[in-house]
Amino acid sequence: MEIQLTWLGHATWKIQAGDHTILLDPFLNDSPVAPVNADEVKADVILVSHGHFDHVADVASIANRCNAHVVAVYEIAQWFQANHDVKLATGMNLGGTFKLPLEGISASVKMTPAVHSSQLPDGSPGGVAAGFILTIESKKIYFACDTALFSDMQLIGRSGIDVAVLPIGDLFTMGIEDSILATGFIDPKQVLPTHYNTWPPIEADTTLWAEKIKTETGAHPVVLEPGETHIV
Ligand code: NI
Ligand code: MN
Repeated sequence: MEIQLTWLGHATWKIQAGDHTILLDPFLNDSPVAPVNADEVKADVILVSHGHFDHVADVASIANRCNAHVVAVYEIAQWFQANHDVKLATGMNLGGTFKLPLEGISASVKMTPAVHSSQLPDGSPGGVAAGFILTIESKKIYFACDTALFSDMQLIGRSGIDVAVLPIGDLFTMGIEDSILATGFIDPKQVLPTHYNTWPPIEADTTLWAEKIKTETGAHPVVLEPGETHIV
């Protein structure tokens, strides 16, 4: 099955598999780099990695308009149901796997650790920050989400990752140097950068990054502009 992976700027990704649309961390209306507004996207499932504004801002409006199923760590799933009238939400936790409610395809997410904080915009505690391994049919895509480098990425690599999506913007997450080490740990076939060039403090040189990936890892770098799609 062809999977279309589209970068919507910052840390927002759209994964299209057949008729089904999965969104990760929709942050569109207040993002200076998003190619679309929140009311222009559709979703069947919305994955939320942690509680920070630049990851949750447009989750509720899209979920409520599209009747999408929100998947997040337990505290965040509860927060959306209690405070934003989200009807369909599954709370899970690190290490767990959830079979996505998408008819006609086999798709699941495993929630992986992320080394990061997770307070929600109103100050509520958002539990722990997470990443996701998204498995669709035989393809595995690892979204590290907001995280520092951690050595257990080697264990994530053992599950056989086809595509890794890693933050490179530094300051709030790992930067370029650590993303090279992370790629070595995960050993994916392809790697894409995320969480950079949204604002000046997280500017990153993707030409330098891609060169380092090519020379220092066994992975193929794929750099997208916001709005561009990579076929997995
Ligand atoms: Ni964050
Ligand atoms: Mn962030």
